[in-house]
Amino acid sequence: MYNNIISENQGVVQIITINREEKLNALNVELIQEIGQEVARLNKEMTVRGIILTGKGQKAFAAGADISEFANFGEAEAKEMSAKGGKVFTSLEESEIPIIAAVNGYALGGGCELTMACHVRIASDNALFGQPEVNLGVPPGYGGTQRLAQIIGRGRALDMLITAKSINAETALNYGLVTQVVSQEELLPTCIKYIEKLVGKSPLAIAEVIKCTNELYENINGLQYEIDSFARSFQTADFKEGTTAFLEKRKPDYT
Ligand code: COA
Repeated sequence: MYNNIISENQGVVQIITINREEKLNALNVELIQEIGQEVARLNKEMTVRGIILTGKGQKAFAAGADISEFANFGEAEAKEMSAKGGKVFTSLEESEIPIIAAVNGYALGGGCELTMACHVRIASDNALFGQPEVNLGVPPGYGGTQRLAQIIGRGRALDMLITAKSINAETALNYGLVTQVVSQEELLPTCIKYIEKLVGKSPLAIAEVIKCTNELYENINGLQYEIDSFARSFQTADFKEGTTAFLEKRKPDYT
């Protein structure tokens, strides 16, 4: 049914797995839309009590947006990519069914942003979080500047965004980016148990809690500002150099 994700039902739990292991689950445009479609379907049916979003394999949740796909984009295409993908990320945040990110390795760039669009993040001890976009000559384009600051605070967020440094699972726990760290083997069972515990609680009240919390950030135009900023960056020499260097497997040379 989908080209880039696998969606499996386990009773009250639905597990959506990003299925591009050979590319470290890098997020292409189609993949993001597929996640959006599946979450929308589940919200329409309302038959599960929680959704787990994870990455295939032992190495990555998602190592970012697919650089090979967007390296040749111009400003208009970048804007479309960021706006269309961003809509999906927001739809996850607005899902009335709680979504747990089971972060099983690299969660970089768009991968980190995707975890932050989920309601809860639980990580395995090998998880690594970061927003390395400045290495590529762009700011994040899927809400990273906004949600990272909302979740871990502006100071820590700017430190990560400016330096492009990654943080491990222990630091992510310390920052409040994740709420629990477990072994890789325990990751899915822990997330499943988390959702099973929600069965005794009111789904309507949970949906309202999500809506109320989202209201806290309504009418703030940072997301739109980020889309415009991301798109503008595609015209710069830094962006050309950053993406070319990644694809040529060398360090970028910014002048
Ligand atoms: N976009 C497209 N392809 C990606 C990717 C991305 N974001 N991240 C990894 N891949 C691909 C690699 O190009 C490689 O493909 P290949 O085998 O066809 O050459 C494959 O996934 C494996 O990645 P590789 O770099 O060989 O693995 P590694 O273990 O040496 O390094 C990372 C892992 C995560 C450090 C490295 O892949 C990386 O830096 N990725 C990009 C991170 C990033 O900048 N993300 C933000 C994008 S907005």
